[in-house]
Amino acid sequence: MDQQPSDALVFFGATGDLAYKKIFPSLQAMVKRGNLNVPVIGVAKAGWNLDQLKERAHDSLEKHGGVDEAAWTKLSSLLRYVDGDYADIATFEAVKKELGDCKRPAHYLAIPPVMFEKVVEQLVASGCAKDARMIVEKPFGHDLASAQELDRILLAAFPETQIFRIDHYLAKGPVHNMVSFRFANSLLEPIWNRNHIESVQITMAENFGIQGRGSFYDPTGAIRDVVQNHIFQLMCNLAMECPADNKSESVRDEKVKVLRAIPPIEAKDLVRGQFKGYLDEKGVAPNSTTETYAALKLQVNSWRWDGVPFYIRAGKNLPVTCTEVIARLKPAPVTNFLPAGSPQNYVRFRISPEMTIAIAVSVAAFGEAGPRQEVELVATRNARPEEMEAYERVLTDAMAGDPTNFARQDYVEEAWRIVDPVLKAQTPVTVYEPNTWGPEGDVVPPGGWDVPVPEQAEDFRVVK
Ligand code: BG6
Repeated sequence: MDQQPSDALVFFGATGDLAYKKIFPSLQAMVKRGNLNVPVIGVAKAGWNLDQLKERAHDSLEKHGGVDEAAWTKLSSLLRYVDGDYADIATFEAVKKELGDCKRPAHYLAIPPVMFEKVVEQLVASGCAKDARMIVEKPFGHDLASAQELDRILLAAFPETQIFRIDHYLAKGPVHNMVSFRFANSLLEPIWNRNHIESVQITMAENFGIQGRGSFYDPTGAIRDVVQNHIFQLMCNLAMECPADNKSESVRDEKVKVLRAIPPIEAKDLVRGQFKGYLDEKGVAPNSTTETYAALKLQVNSWRWDGVPFYIRAGKNLPVTCTEVIARLKPAPVTNFLPAGSPQNYVRFRISPEMTIAIAVSVAAFGEAGPRQEVELVATRNARPEEMEAYERVLTDAMAGDPTNFARQDYVEEAWRIVDPVLKAQTPVTVYEPNTWGPEGDVVPPGGWDVPVPEQAEDFRVVK
């Protein structure tokens, strides 16, 4: 049955937050694009019926992207609903009944990881796991040991080729573009190494808090929520060697090699912060020391990157929402053309809100002999309405059986190995005011942290 399209989608957590914000809008988009024409069975324990689920789905579309009447009518006809406790086998027998003649369902666990084992067990016991595909949401476990345990549970029921671990950053156009820019142009390669790059920094800033997700966020924290997965994926795209071909395994092999070259983060290389007011959020434990901000430094001990520090920072309630990478080049020698103190060149990749590639250079300021002016050569554009949003892309690919945009287990384990010791170290957490750049600390890249500013230009100028 390898990589045939799934003929039903069963999604657990149908009344939850992720379904409301991301899954229903993606399902509508898939229908609109002609990529979804199979039963979609929502499962949850909410005491609801199908009409209530449809109402919720419609509401989700209104709030997140809008209702397309034709696509909604079709999606609504595909929707089914099973209400019940995941501990009760009757729930899964009802799913089986709804599956009817479907032979290759995809089961999507949009539920808290603590429930995974039970659900997988019940899928097997009810016969729903046969020839099925499993789609799981990150974080995959909460440390290395639990990730291995989760893998054991999944592998007991599904072959590795049918397990799809979602990291939606892998499905973002600008994230792919980093790789294609690196390997489709000869421009960067000569400088993209320890001889020319002084440091690399990645900022993932969000200007909102935890948005009512306290019960998910509090046992998770910024490192598990976005650093160990989304940001590490960006780092791998920056640091990896050119894959032998564009097959999914070749690309995934190169990423894993980057992670293998990274030693575990040390406590001295981590700053943790928590925004003021976090403890008042619903679902957050009193006196919680969960970080909503993390700044960290790591090394990639490879031939290419030896000695180049990589800095990462991610946080909630920061002044802007923006994900951006800066690779700063070593200073040019001081000459008549470049007085001391002139800014260093850098390469900038913006992942969101726009897609940008920029190279900062020094030019002579008009009519002046003094320090040069730093300007950026910029290519930037906003997402186009016709582009697939990340969740639409991952669900479409998973239903089709294409593993490229999913995390492989060896990658997941390497990522945990890097953060595990420092997660356990319980380093201090400093409170920061919302709308600031987090606590000050000793983890600061040479030349300082990048402060993302709104893009000025509006689009690529296509030359040919
Ligand atoms: C999710 C995290 O995986 O990614 C959220 O759980 C975070 O906390 C989100 O806000 C960011 O994704 P995006 O696509 O909005 O940048």
